[in-house]
This record gives sequence, C-alpha cells and structure tokens, in this order.
Amino acid sequence: MNDGQNDDNSMTDPVRAQYERYPYPPRDPGDEATRLVVGSPSHILEIDHFLFGGSRDFSKPFRALFAGGGTGDATIMLAQQLADINADAEIIYLDISEASRDVARARAKARGLTNIQFVTGSLNDLPALGLGEFDYIDCCGVLHHLEDPLAGLKTLGGALLPHGGMGVMLYAPLGRTGVYHVQAMVRMMSENASDDVKLDIARRTLNSLPPTNWLKRNPFVGDHTGLGDAGIYDLLLHSRDRAYSIMEIAELVAQAELKLVTFLDPLRYEPGIYIQDEELGPRIRAMSGLQRCAFAELLCGNMKTHRFYAVRSDNDQPTVAMLGSPDAVPILRELDGAAMAKEMATNRTMTVELDGIKAGFNLPQMAPAIFMLIDGKRSLKEIHEKIVAAAPDNIAPDWDAFMQQFQQIFMTVNGLGRMYLRCPA
Ligand SMILES: C[S@@+](CC[C@H](N)C(=O)[O-])C[C@H]1O[C@@H](n2cnc3c(N)ncnc32)[C@H](O)[C@@H]1O
Repeated sequence: MNDGQNDDNSMTDPVRAQYERYPYPPRDPGDEATRLVVGSPSHILEIDHFLFGGSRDFSKPFRALFAGGGTGDATIMLAQQLADINADAEIIYLDISEASRDVARARAKARGLTNIQFVTGSLNDLPALGLGEFDYIDCCGVLHHLEDPLAGLKTLGGALLPHGGMGVMLYAPLGRTGVYHVQAMVRMMSENASDDVKLDIARRTLNSLPPTNWLKRNPFVGDHTGLGDAGIYDLLLHSRDRAYSIMEIAELVAQAELKLVTFLDPLRYEPGIYIQDEELGPRIRAMSGLQRCAFAELLCGNMKTHRFYAVRSDNDQPTVAMLGSPDAVPILRELDGAAMAKEMATNRTMTVELDGIKAGFNLPQMAPAIFMLIDGKRSLKEIHEKIVAAAPDNIAPDWDAFMQQFQQIFMTVNGLGRMYLRCPA
C-alpha cells in the first residue's frame, strides 16, 4: 500500500497511462466551494435504503472502499455526507492513477474532509494491499475497463463484510449505440499514433459523421461534447472498454458469488411504465423481475449504463427497507416536498424525462398533503396523525386508507430514486 507513488507495473498499462494523462471525469477542486456533485449509487440515503434496510447506525464503524475512485465524485459525496452526520466512518479511495488521486485529494482538502485515506494501486491487488474488509464498496465505470472484469468483481466481493453491499456502474450496450462504431473507425486510422494525433483524428471523425451514422443519430451520448480531451479519449479512444446487457450483468454477478439487489432507478426497469397495451401487460407481468429488466432495456434502447446494488450471495437477510412500520420515516432526495405539494394542487401527475422518454405518473388524492408533511424527520404515523387532525371528522382517512395512498406514492417516487425510508432498528 502506498499513498505517494505507484509501484506496480506502470505506464506500460495503457489504461493507467490514459488516466494519468486524462483523469476522468475532469474536475476542478475550486468548484467544491459552490457545489457537491451528487449521484447514484453511493448516496448515503440510497445505500442505507437498499443495503441496510434503512436502519444502518452510522455512529457504529462504517468502512467504505471506492475502487477506481477516479477524480473523486462518489468518494467526495459519501465522505461529505458521512462527515455531515459525524459518522464513525473510514473511507478508502483506491485508484491506479496518481493524477486522478491528486484531483480527488485536492477536492477533499477543499472541503476539509479528513475521513478519506488515499491509496494508489490496482483493485486486482486488493488482498495484498491489506486494506481490510468493507461495509460498502463502490466500483463505478471501472470493471468494464479491466482485462478480467469477473476476476475484479470477485476480488471486490471477497473484501465485503458478510452483510456489506456494493454499488456498481457498468456500460450498457444499446444506449451506447454508435460509440463502438466510431471507436473502430478511429482505431483503423490511428494505430501507433501519439495521443495528440489520436485526439485530432477522433475530433475530425466526429466532425465528418454523416447524419445516418449511429453515433450521430444517438442524442443520448454526450461525453464527447463538453468534457474536453478527457471526454473524447474516454469515449472514443479507450484501449479497453466493453458494455454489459442486463443478462450479462446477472451472469457476471452470479459468477462472482454476489446477488443483485436492484438496478437504479428501479422504475426505469419496469416495462409496465412504458407499455399500457392490455394484451401485452399480463404477459410482461408474468415474467421474472430480471426478465422484466432485460425487457425494459431492449424496449427503451436508451440505457447507456446500468447502475446496481449487490450483496454477497450468502447474505440471506432482506436488505431493502420495506413499508410496514408506522415508525418509518420517508425522506425525499433532491425534491422539495412543499414545492411539489403546491404544484400538485392543480395537477397530481409527476412527469419525468427518462433520456428521451417522457413518463407521467398519477399520484393519489392525498399526495399534496403528504408531500407537504415529509420533512425527513416525521414518521408515517406522525404524518398520518397530522393529516387526520387537519381533516373534518367525516373524511379523515384511517391508517389503511392513508397507507394505500402512501404506498402508491412510494412505489413511484422511490422507484424514480427520489424517496427512501429510514426505519427504526
Ligand atoms: C471512468 S473512471 C471512473 C472514476 C469514478 N469511479 C467515477 O465514476 O467517476 C475509471 C477509473 O478507474 C481507474 N482504474 C482502472 N483500472 C483500475 C484498477 N485495476 N484498479 C484501480 N483503479 C482502476 C482509472 O484510473 C480511472 O480513474
């Protein structure tokens, strides 16, 4: 283990050489003063909800590993969230690229975060690095660049504590339609060229694409616009890059002796939100959960990545927070409950844009009142009590009627990654 230099093989590894020259995604530590980059997986509420039943006690020791932490987005997010609640947390950032580490470390410094240890090395060498076991491991955008992704995932799985969990992002094939076509063309023209020449060739190729080219026709891939050389290199010049369909992920995860918990955001993987046909509906509902996810991927064609949580296959405990207890506390993420309540006074449809697909979800009559009362502290019982207190006696909803409506809200908003549960232990 070391904090300063890389003692494994070096710049002969083209993937390491790339990330030394073009840390990805490009980030300016100065921006930490004005914003926190928030995403999924690895958001503290999401980890708690999907992996720890909504009842993780963060005052107890919590160890997290960011394997291939890059320029630090997820590391910084979780480190900040854990620092904000004074958690007893130890975060290990691991990456083969020293340049990426320097960016991540500068971001942590800019925020005054002291809960991260920066390690330079390969996740393949994890056992030898002696970093111990983890409650949580993040590995986003990394496995698909390894020579042996399965070996990498197995190594990470081997470092999970028995009830720990993992958040992973892998490229998905259909949403990246066109990327591999352009990669192949650029490769044909730039063998043995320097990085600068390769970048020039990639840019010229992008400028020369006819309107029929699949990348040109794919409006959802934008990494080559706005992220400079690093964006173009990562998308079009990567020396090792493959994409995984849902079924390939299921196989990879099973072979690594892990178990899928959920894809993110779960509702995007439910074909029923896109297809209302009365003949097709029952046939789709008869499929297994995994088949429905695979179906949704084929149906939408717009998924560029798959993000998912997984646990060890020998973990028999339910890990997802469930509705059931009146003491559960609903928490909104990146949503203003009061503002939503106001909007819903005139229109109770929640409309979202899912990479080119506009989807509307009808919310029940009590939704405005419920959203107004969700503050991340009130339990469902307290929210119900307040609704009852505000209603005339003859129309005050009983608990079952309230929960029926809350469940409908929860299925939608949780399914879209905007609501989680905090459950009493
Ligand atoms: C596309 S970046 C993703 C960074 C970060 N996880 C994120 O999502 O923003 C991939 C990162 O994986 C790192 N990486 C590649 N192979 C690795 C390995 N074997 N061990 C550790 N890190 C690796 C690269 O150096 C790079 O920083």
